[in-house]
Amino acid sequence: MSGVAVYPGSFDPITNGHVDIIRRSLQVFSRVIVAVAFNAHKDAAWFTPKERVAMIRDTFRAEGDRVEADAFSGLLVDYARAKGANVIVRGLRAVADFEYEFQMTMMNRHLCPQVETIFMMTGESHFYTSSRLVKEVVSLGGNVAGLIPDGVVPLLKARAAKRAT
Ligand code: PNS
Repeated sequence: MSGVAVYPGSFDPITNGHVDIIRRSLQVFSRVIVAVAFNAHKDAAWFTPKERVAMIRDTFRAEGDRVEADAFSGLLVDYARAKGANVIVRGLRAVADFEYEFQMTMMNRHLCPQVETIFMMTGESHFYTSSRLVKEVVSLGGNVAGLIPDGVVPLLKARAAKRAT
């Protein structure tokens, strides 16, 4: 294991699919920076960047400094370079992810050819998990246990209840 990788995303909130990709990345890289992207001007997220970072930190407390959670705005490649990382990790689920990921990878390569993007396949039990669906299910009173870290379940339920009022 060597090197630092950046694993970027919205993480609104972190799901067990993300957890799976971070754990896989830790088998390849010595350190993984989980980078919460936010747009100060238009962010329809349920959780603030600070809340999202805190959820990731709590989930990976046992990994110590091998997992860093941070928030960034602006270009991902600029952030990666500033953090001394030349690898971006992205998770792939179904084929449907491919087009979007392909576009982002090519744009990032255009912007900064020194930063390489690598993909990891999400574990099959997380193939259909996404933050968007998890929020929808929780809003409609469904059970999301097992889809997101245990500590995140009450936070998500509370946020859904608050948004419903
Ligand atoms: O979890 P998501 O929403 O699929 O993550 C998308 C993310 C955050 C990786 C992407 O939107 C991103 O890289 N945002 C930073 C802005 C940027 O660098 N844009 C140009 C590259 S396509």
